[in-house]
Amino acid sequence: MGTQASGPRITLSYRSLEWIGGVDGHLRLLDQTRLPEAVDYLDCRSAEEVWDAIRRLCVRGAPAIGVAAAYGAVLGCSRREPLRWEDVEQICAYLKTCRPTAVNLGWALDRMLRTAQRCLTEGSGTSGRMALPASLLREAQAIEQEDRETCQALGRNGAELIPDGGAVLTHCNTGALAAAGIGTALAALFAAWEQGKRFTVWVDETRPLLQGARLTAWELHQRGIPAAVLCDHAAGQLMGAGKVQVVIVGADRIAANGDVANKIGTYGLAVLARAHGIPMYVSAPASTFDLSITGGWEIPIEQRSAEEVSVGLGRRTVPEGVEVYNPAFDVTPAEWISGIVTERGIIAPVNEARIRERLTT
Ligand code: MRU
Repeated sequence: MGTQASGPRITLSYRSLEWIGGVDGHLRLLDQTRLPEAVDYLDCRSAEEVWDAIRRLCVRGAPAIGVAAAYGAVLGCSRREPLRWEDVEQICAYLKTCRPTAVNLGWALDRMLRTAQRCLTEGSGTSGRMALPASLLREAQAIEQEDRETCQALGRNGAELIPDGGAVLTHCNTGALAAAGIGTALAALFAAWEQGKRFTVWVDETRPLLQGARLTAWELHQRGIPAAVLCDHAAGQLMGAGKVQVVIVGADRIAANGDVANKIGTYGLAVLARAHGIPMYVSAPASTFDLSITGGWEIPIEQRSAEEVSVGLGRRTVPEGVEVYNPAFDVTPAEWISGIVTERGIIAPVNEARIRERLTT
């Protein structure tokens, strides 16, 4: 593996998800729809419950979705008797449908499928089938553990981009709530703070579901890092006033040419950052890259329900009968991104050759 800066290991007091018990155990999620009002947990005991939890954003953020889906496959498979290869295929295909944009979902489920295939090929007949649920659980746990290590590396590698003094602007939530580990873009802030750097974090509220205001502000506050929430459209005014030194965000899928799909509003931020000469970085694990697609135009963009906008804050804010446009993600062109932080080092400039060099050698 390529370059990795060294540094202290960051620990946090909360986890987005946890597997409870053995093969017949269950998945416990920190229910993110309830934050910041309440820290509540949701126990999932079937693939269907995991599907629904991901769809409703009880668990969200590209890496966390992948890990949760892997455990969803364990739940689906360990409760089916007899368990056949076709069942594993069907359960994984079903879980892949819960959200379309974050490639980590398909990436994790493909790993589960490969594990099942290996287990059934290596074990003969009945013994292979009996060993399958335990093998799937081990694989899901490996995906979770790898994400923890990856996030630590993302934090260490990203910390060098964070200024000592000044302010950083971020969008959506990319911390420990969005991963099994400490996060991606927010991990850089945790690590820089741990190194003794001091800065303020501007947190885009991230309409319509307020992942910035509800989740990122909560995570930074837990850690004692000064943060201020702004309405998304205040970012331009803030940059114009010279109050942003760097922008750092996460990603849901990165195409081979470096185009980045991330939370709706990221594209607008990139335009603003470019206009103001402010560097904009993306932080994402290798599992968020989709080298099978050429460019951002091939990334499927999730459209979510009208109600998230029209009655999103608990009361009607759009007249009944008026249509709503509610894409969950947008795509930022590679050339507007100053660099992509990965667990294998920083990719800059962002182009296909640099990406392939960093990820495949
Ligand atoms: O709809 P969400 O909340 O799942 O969207 C999350 C994002 O867009 C994050 O920026 C991305 O998944 C990276 S999380 C480390």
